[in-house]
Amino acid sequence: MKHKSWLSWLLIMTMTTIFLVRRAQGVCADDERKTLLEIKASLMNSYDSAVDNVLPTWVDHGECCNWERVQCNTTTGRVTMILLGNLNDDTRYIADPEVYWPLNVSLFSHFKELRSLNLSWNYLDHELLNTGLVRLSSLKKLEILDLSSNFAIDNDILPSLTTLTSLRVLNLAFTSLEGHFPTNEFAALENLEMLDLTDCHFSGTMSGLLHLNLDWNIFRNDTLKFLVAFPSLEFLSLGHSHLNRSALVQEVPNMRNLEVLLLGNNNLRGKLAMKALASFPNLKILDLSSNNLIGSIPSEISSLSSLRVLYLAENNLYGSLPEYGKLHKALCYILFLKII
Ligand SMILES: *[C@@H]1O[C@H](CO)[C@@H](O)[C@H](O)[C@H]1NC(C)=O
Ligand SMILES: *[C@@H]1O[C@H](CO)[C@@H](O)[C@H](O)[C@H]1NC(C)=O
Ligand SMILES: *[C@@H]1O[C@H](CO)[C@@H](O)[C@H](O)[C@H]1NC(C)=O
Ligand SMILES: *[C@@H]1O[C@H](CO)[C@@H](O)[C@H](O)[C@H]1NC(C)=O
Ligand SMILES: *[C@@H]1O[C@H](CO)[C@@H](O)[C@H](O)[C@H]1NC(C)=O
Repeated sequence: MKHKSWLSWLLIMTMTTIFLVRRAQGVCADDERKTLLEIKASLMNSYDSAVDNVLPTWVDHGECCNWERVQCNTTTGRVTMILLGNLNDDTRYIADPEVYWPLNVSLFSHFKELRSLNLSWNYLDHELLNTGLVRLSSLKKLEILDLSSNFAIDNDILPSLTTLTSLRVLNLAFTSLEGHFPTNEFAALENLEMLDLTDCHFSGTMSGLLHLNLDWNIFRNDTLKFLVAFPSLEFLSLGHSHLNRSALVQEVPNMRNLEVLLLGNNNLRGKLAMKALASFPNLKILDLSSNNLIGSIPSEISSLSSLRVLYLAENNLYGSLPEYGKLHKALCYILFLKII
């Protein structure tokens, strides 16, 4: 008898614990689970039928908050993140580059609490438009959208994309966007703080950002005059962008907010262009590595009084830096210098 009541007590405790834990973790909503399964089914259909190891944890009747690449709000059990970047890596399936995933992007509009959606590197194309990318504008919490490395995405996506006004982070790197910079379209994304356009083929300008990554573009002799359209910029990366010295010595607008300037792996041959650097008086981090710079380090460098990190590797500079003390309140001055 004693044994039996001990058992029922244990059973009750176990049930209670399971109930509490499930509540604490949030139980995924039926419609959201079904939608995730629809997404998986469309992915599997687009692949060779031999591929059966796509998203193995996404199974009927499962607790979708525990599925790989999905995260829920633990209180509400609503899906907040769907991270489907680079699914090809999981499947170890070399997708035929001519075969695109005809994803019905409207499906994501079922996830009312969705904050982050990563669809990077998934062979997505114009089907995103045909299936209603614009419907994601109903997702008021959507902050992060990564569509990078979907090479078939081009300028046609912009009108729909720019209705997603809750976005804070937008990654369109390695897509086929090109032409004149769509200033007005991006300006509509008024909450945008970070836009990654690495290896797109834009020319021209846009406005209103804190963080701009233009690595792997082609600037050559273009001037940096376009920066005039980015008065708030704090971070600018222009690495590997065929930037010529002439780009930097021509008119450079004054960028008082710029704290990080990454110009590594360009073609700034010759002496350090101190005149240009004067346009960025509040820089904290400056990367000028791999630029064929020659000559001595000018003492004017100490006029960059906020500078904390200066990266000069892979150049042919010589001489020494102005004395530490002269760099005003530079707390942490790091230098990687190849001295000849
Ligand atoms: C989860 O949802 C609740 C209720 O909407 C909200 O108060 C809370 O901030 C959310 N938690 C996270 C981590 O987003
Ligand atoms: C999206 O997924 C890719 C591939 O897994 C990853 O490299 C990238 O950092 C992710 N993007 C964001 C914004 O987290
Ligand atoms: C795409 O998904 C939406 C939302 O679930 C649905 O209304 C629509 O019928 C779907 N379109 C196709 C072609 O399956
Ligand atoms: C600037 O770039 C162009 C095109 O890449 C090149 O032909 C030219 O020699 C470069 N000029 C300088 C001064 O590096
Ligand atoms: C770039 O500028 C350099 C120096 O001003 C000039 O010699 C070169 O021809 C220019 N190249 C192009 C492609 O305009």
